[in-house]
Amino acid sequence: MKVDVLLGLQWGDEGKGKIVDVLAPRYDVVARFQGGPNAGHTLEFDGIKHVLHQIPSGIFRSKTRNVIGNGVVLDPIVFQTEIGKLSKYNLDVRSNLFISKKATLIIPTHRLLDQAQEKAKGDDKIGSTLKGIGPSYQDKIGRQGLRVGDVLSPSFREKFNKLVNVHMEILKLHDVSFDWPELEKAFMDAVKFLKTFNLIDSEYFLNQELSAGSTILAEGAQGSLLDIDFGSYPFVTSSNTVTAGACTGLGIAPRHIGEVYGIFKAYSTRVGSGPFPTELLNEEGEALRKEGNEFGSTTGRPRRCGWIDIPSLKYSIMINGVTQLLMMKADVLSIFPSIKACVRYQLADGKVTDQVPYELIHERITPIYEELKGWNCNLKGLNEKELPIELVHYVEFLEAQLGVPISLISTGPDRKETIHRFKK
Ligand code: GDP
Ligand code: IMO
Ligand code: MG
Repeated sequence: MKVDVLLGLQWGDEGKGKIVDVLAPRYDVVARFQGGPNAGHTLEFDGIKHVLHQIPSGIFRSKTRNVIGNGVVLDPIVFQTEIGKLSKYNLDVRSNLFISKKATLIIPTHRLLDQAQEKAKGDDKIGSTLKGIGPSYQDKIGRQGLRVGDVLSPSFREKFNKLVNVHMEILKLHDVSFDWPELEKAFMDAVKFLKTFNLIDSEYFLNQELSAGSTILAEGAQGSLLDIDFGSYPFVTSSNTVTAGACTGLGIAPRHIGEVYGIFKAYSTRVGSGPFPTELLNEEGEALRKEGNEFGSTTGRPRRCGWIDIPSLKYSIMINGVTQLLMMKADVLSIFPSIKACVRYQLADGKVTDQVPYELIHERITPIYEELKGWNCNLKGLNEKELPIELVHYVEFLEAQLGVPISLISTGPDRKETIHRFKK
């Protein structure tokens, strides 16, 4: 058996949560491989709307086991709150959720450092979710981080104090106010709670599942254009959000990777700072935000909106080895009589390219658009055969541009509002 990977091709919020939940019944295991509480993955079904942050989006499917992998940065306080919010659904979370001992812990000072670092950047701020992501990955790479498995050690408190002291020295240089005894107590309570869950050697768990013939879906967080290596650096997150991140974030060898599902919105959005060539700073952008309800699932911030960006999608498809595309939010484009798609960029020196330039940040990019006729009709309840011809043309146009089949079209936030075109 292989591990299929589902990940975002844009700047996050493509609809990963919805589709992992839709596909989860086909899989024995769903595993998150990077990111942490910066993610907000929304699921809608049976009149319920629920946002997950660190817990994999297979959790509502009773036969699917869920793994938080070693590549994740886990905040125990957020974890406790998330579990609390799930309690009303009567799920068997304790038997269906497994957490890697090698996942990195986010401690309260990481969140304070995130605030301090962003404040110090002034106008150049990343627009971080302030969940402590950057500082916790810094400590991981700096070889001084704490890991989930450490909570089982008798010397955990000592290790924790040592790291807190390092952080406090840095925080002294910044103007951040906090009530440490309160933060520390909340963290220690949450650690006690975390210890009551299945803390496992997830790399063994997953490889044994593979050997036993189980099917596994790796769930990405953020999007490829926020990847630490390939995103619009420095306006990125601090992890590898691409397919390779599933290998390092789960302990899965590259030869075990199967399908790579690349998920994208039928247009583009971005939350936080950084370049966005097709951003619409006009009433069309406003209309997309309103119709698509484009407000962050984690922070509530309004998302920046624009037309679809084919050069950047091609780039993401290349880096990830995408085998099938999943197109989300087709219904949102129904408001427009015509739709634009950026097919190439014109750079400041007049050069036209379909590649993403190194200096995306400082390069003045003028998108070159192709205009397509819109469908201007309600897609609710339609099946594949009933789709308006203009939408079929949009899908065929994207498939031809991107060279990868579109295997799923999403026409609304609910599980049921999903058109499957999978070949297998
Ligand atoms: P994720 O981070 O990739 O899981 O995506 P988010 O949950 O942050 O953002 C996607 C938003 O779009 C959520 O509010 C979803 O409920 C919603 N959504 C997902 N698919 C569709 C769709 O096809 N149409 C519409 N209108 N909304 C959708
Ligand atoms: P999901 O999984 C959209 C953005 C932030 C900021 C940058 C760095 O829901 O798609 P960080 O908190 O990681 O230091 O922020 O990345 N960002 C996201 N944008 N969706 C997300 O996750 C995001 N996670 C982080 O807005 O610009
Ligand atoms: Mg999200």
